[in-house]
Amino acid sequence: MALIPILLYPDPRLHKVAKPVQTVDSRIHKLVDDMLETMYEANGIGLAASQVDVHERLIVIDVSQERDQPLVLINPEIVWSSEDKLLNEEGCLSVPGIYDGVERAKSIKATATDRSGERRNIDAEGLLAVCIQHEMDHLLGKVFVQYLSPLKRNRIKTKMLKLAREESR
Ligand code: NI
Repeated sequence: MALIPILLYPDPRLHKVAKPVQTVDSRIHKLVDDMLETMYEANGIGLAASQVDVHERLIVIDVSQERDQPLVLINPEIVWSSEDKLLNEEGCLSVPGIYDGVERAKSIKATATDRSGERRNIDAEGLLAVCIQHEMDHLLGKVFVQYLSPLKRNRIKTKMLKLAREESR
């Protein structure tokens, strides 16, 4: 397994739209393992392939306290979303140190292919539902700060660019 560098907002590659995974083969297994290692190392609860510059529909998630319940969602689709919304403070490994409220469906039903290639149904609510929606946005090239006001988003962009400049010195 190996750590993969995570793209940082406002990197334009974060806005690419991911294509479906064609076959769950050894290349995908390695990508899943590397993404899980990268997510755990960064203390994240979710990571989309788009964030590691692989533009295929694949996300990994672990919202458990013990960090021992990895979920692999390949070609995920949301088939139902509740009208009930939840306002949750979100963060993102591509926008480190920034947290802000985003409203999302409180519960969802989704389908996705798992690591072994089986298609599965997922009923999710609360944090897991929010996380799946956040990560699936990445596959569409969308980062959570795009839900915030233009003023807030510009402040975040400026802050991130300043950090990147300082780090490259
Ligand atoms: Ni994110």
